This record gives sequence, C-alpha cells and structure tokens, in this order.
Amino acid sequence: MSLFDALKPEALDPIMAGFQEFGADKRPERINLGVGMYYDEDGRIPILGVVEAAERRLAERVATWGYLMPDGLPTLRDGAKRLVFGDALVAGMGKRIATVQSLGGTGALKLGADVIRRVAPDSVVAMSRPTWGNHPAIFGGAGLRVSEYPYFDSATGGVDWPAMRDAVAAMAPGTVLLLHACCHNPTGADISAEDWRTLAGLIRERRLVPFLDMAYAGFAEGLEVDSQPARLLAELGVPLFVATSFSKSFALYGERIGALSVVAADARQAGLVLEQVKIAVRTNYSTPPSHGALLVSTILGDPALHAQWIAELDGMRQRVRRMREGLAARLSGSNALDFGRFVQQKGLFSYSGLGAAQMARLKDEFAIYGVSDGRLCMAALTERTLDRVAAGIRAVA
Ligand code: LMR
Repeated sequence: MSLFDALKPEALDPIMAGFQEFGADKRPERINLGVGMYYDEDGRIPILGVVEAAERRLAERVATWGYLMPDGLPTLRDGAKRLVFGDALVAGMGKRIATVQSLGGTGALKLGADVIRRVAPDSVVAMSRPTWGNHPAIFGGAGLRVSEYPYFDSATGGVDWPAMRDAVAAMAPGTVLLLHACCHNPTGADISAEDWRTLAGLIRERRLVPFLDMAYAGFAEGLEVDSQPARLLAELGVPLFVATSFSKSFALYGERIGALSVVAADARQAGLVLEQVKIAVRTNYSTPPSHGALLVSTILGDPALHAQWIAELDGMRQRVRRMREGLAARLSGSNALDFGRFVQQKGLFSYSGLGAAQMARLKDEFAIYGVSDGRLCMAALTERTLDRVAAGIRAVA
C-alpha cells in the first residue's frame, strides 16, 4: 500500500480550474471573463505607468536581496496601514494596529485564519451566501468552523439587506464575521453606507469579530469611499482583521503583495497579536518576498507617485464602469435576464444570473469563459469584445 493509493481525482475550485482550462484553450477568439484580473482596452493586463516609474527607481537603489523579517518591509507595512485606515486614524490609534506584509489578499486571509485558530480554536467564521469560493476553503482549511449568512437577492441583483441584518443580529458573541469591504466577490452587490453603520452597531452590540476582505478597494467608488468600512469598524472597540490586496489596485497580481492589519484593544495587545501573526508567517513561508513590497512602498511613500497611482486606479475603475454600461446597453431589450444589474453592481464582477448550463454553452459555443456560478469579470471586457460577449449572452440566456 503506497501513500497515494487512496487518492481520487480532485479538481481545483471553479475559478482556478477555469483559468487553467482557458490557458489550454487554443481557440484564437477565446475571451477570459473568469479569473478576476483587470485588462486594458487592448485586452492586456497592464503594467501601470507608476509601477514602471517605481521599477526604475528600484533599479538604481536596490543593492541586495536579503531576507525580509517575517512581518515584511517596514515602509510597506506603514504605507498599507495608512492606506486602509487613513492618516487621521493612524495618528490617533495607529499603535493599536498590527500590520504585516502578506502574500496578496489570500495570504492575509490565511494568516488571519491561522491566528484566530491559535487564539480561539472554536471560532465560527460566518460568510456571505455566496462568497468567494476560496473563503470557506481557507478558513475551513485552517481548522475553523464555517457558516453562512444570507446575502444576495437574485430577484434584484442586489443585497437582501433585511435578511443579512437579521442574521447578523442573531449571531453568537465571538462569531468571526467575514465581510467584503466593497465590490463583493462574486456578486458585485454591496450594502449602502447607511447599512454599514447599522451593521457596525450590530457588531458592537453582539461583540462579533469583523474580518474585512478588502481586495478590491478603489474599484467601487474610489479609494477613500471604499476604505470607509475599515475605518468605521476600526473605531468600534472590537477586534478587527483587515486583509488588503495590492494585486488589483496596482495590477501586481504575480507579485503576491498585500497586507494583514489587526486592530487590538491597546498597544500592548497589538504587540502580542503581531507576534502571533509573525509566527503564522514563519510557519507558513518564513518571510515574504521583497520586490512587490518595494514597488508598492516606493509608490505609497512618494507624493507624486501616489497621486499618479490614484489617477491610474481611477482610470481603471472608470473603464470598468464603461464596460458595464456598454454591456447593459447591448443587452437592453432582451427580456431573458435583468441586465440592468451589470450597471448597478460594483467592482470587477457581476453575478449575471446565468446558470451552470448556460455558462458551459458560453464557453463551448462562444469561447467565452466565466465562472460556472454565473460570475463574469466586467474588468476583462473591452470595446472590441463587448458585441461578441453580448451576442453570446443573448444566445444562451
Ligand atoms: C478571483 O476571484 O477571480 C480572484 O480573486 C482571483 C482568485 O484568486 O480567485
């Protein structure tokens, strides 16, 4: 009997499995609206101008590639903290916040999950129905129990806020409440600013532990607005975890650069939490990589580069918005599905309402890849592909 005799075939999650299948597809006309990446008008994943500028500076300055400490590059940690919480909050309560460099947003989620497992192994992590397919796998894989709360309203394409609110109001104290800061993945449906305030009150009242996944900041309304949930929750006086990704906002997917921030009760507790996160880093991958951290921290630390980055990020968001409007316009008059939702929803994704069989037809007959649950990446549409995608959707809907 060998170690692997009992192994059975097991697929990756639908997003990654589709990404692999797309990579192997030889049809020249194929379009990838599956995995969440931003493409420019030429259908390329761009290298931002500001990243090229930072790269030139690094080429002149970096003389060595030694190990970073487990918690990462100090300037990146500081920049990430300021980005999420804003200068005013950092001035007031920055010492209560432990921020650590992570391997993208996914790495931040895993570090947070490992820390929660160490300090409160019986925790239940409540996540939206639906949520990003990797969420239950990450938190469940870390040994935590996972539950769901109602979220998406398929009738309206928005959030079923009353159902979500009531579910949160009934949660047991100590429940880890996983929330998407903005640009909900996979649906694109976000709650309103007013709902966030009500939610914050419930979190404090029920003594819940919010865990914010902030992978798409900048793609809903802009960086400042998209950061408000993190700032609101930071002031509640409950422990808070925030997983930040720089994959999308800097188009640095392959660099695996992000950060985990944990808000604790005071500076001493934040120090203790930091030690826990560092242990999680050390026992997972020892220390993080330098290159992406240097790029992002160079940009965040230089006012001119920072301003250039915000302008490029705004440009990406506006292009996605145009693609959403373009798709909705091409589908108007089609009564098979409510395509107004493409305009109403925010960020990279939309839950189209198409079912698994329709998504399979879209792939097989039209070479258009989405995710089997109906998720389409609006940020991968271009003026050149809009007509074809709309025609494909009309045909299968
Ligand atoms: C997505 O949802 O497509 C992205 O977050 C990429 C991923 O790792 O799944």
